[in-house]
Amino acid sequence: MNQSNTRILKIDSSARAESSMSRKLAQQLTEQLVAANPGAEVVSRDVSGGLPFVTEEWIGASYTPADQRTEAQNQALALSDSLIEELQAADTLIIAAPMYNFSVPATLKAYIDQICRAQVTFRYTEQGPVGLLENKKAYVVAVTGGTPVNSAADFVSAYMRQVLGFIGIKDVTFINADRIMVDPESILADAQQQIAAATEVAAA
Ligand SMILES: Cc1cc2nc3c(=O)[nH]c(=O)nc-3n(C[C@H](O)[C@H](O)[C@H](O)COP(=O)(O)O)c2cc1C
Repeated sequence: MNQSNTRILKIDSSARAESSMSRKLAQQLTEQLVAANPGAEVVSRDVSGGLPFVTEEWIGASYTPADQRTEAQNQALALSDSLIEELQAADTLIIAAPMYNFSVPATLKAYIDQICRAQVTFRYTEQGPVGLLENKKAYVVAVTGGTPVNSAADFVSAYMRQVLGFIGIKDVTFINADRIMVDPESILADAQQQIAAATEVAAA
């Protein structure tokens, strides 16, 4: 990614702070990407405190052409607009995705619902939906307690790949720290090796 103007958007979603493994790994990945690309700017967004869910008003507003929206509709979309602006401004996305009850935390889902917007981050065509975010790379740090990633019970990995692809982000690298409860030290070390390998590729 060697561009001096690179902007990294790091999104945390674990409800835990100091003890969070996904935060720790996402931070290490961020630092290593910055080390490989010293001009990089980092923007951090922590969604763990919660974001509003989409409402009927939000949906109505999002399907109303921008130049025909009322002031109330503009307000209903204001947070979504600013989150999308932040996302559009980034070239690299790092999403810390701990597994909660086989899927992503509800807070991360609420973020995703705010940034998936028809005509803004995707649009429908006769050939199906097309993602509108271009030239972005994403890293997903997937952490689970006991569920193996890519198993039938993992609704994090395939979901994140699907939703990122839906908005146009097809270049996705997963850093997997799954089944962390089984052997925390070796699984953490393995995830750190994945980070080292991923950032070497990014620096190349
Ligand atoms: C509310 C909650 C639900 C969880 N559900 C699952 C689960 O379905 N499968 C699993 O393997 N681990 C599950 N875990 C374990 C977490 O994925 C694991 O503790 C992980 O390290 C959490 O990420 P964090 O360290 O960044 O907080 C759950 C943890 C919490 C707090």
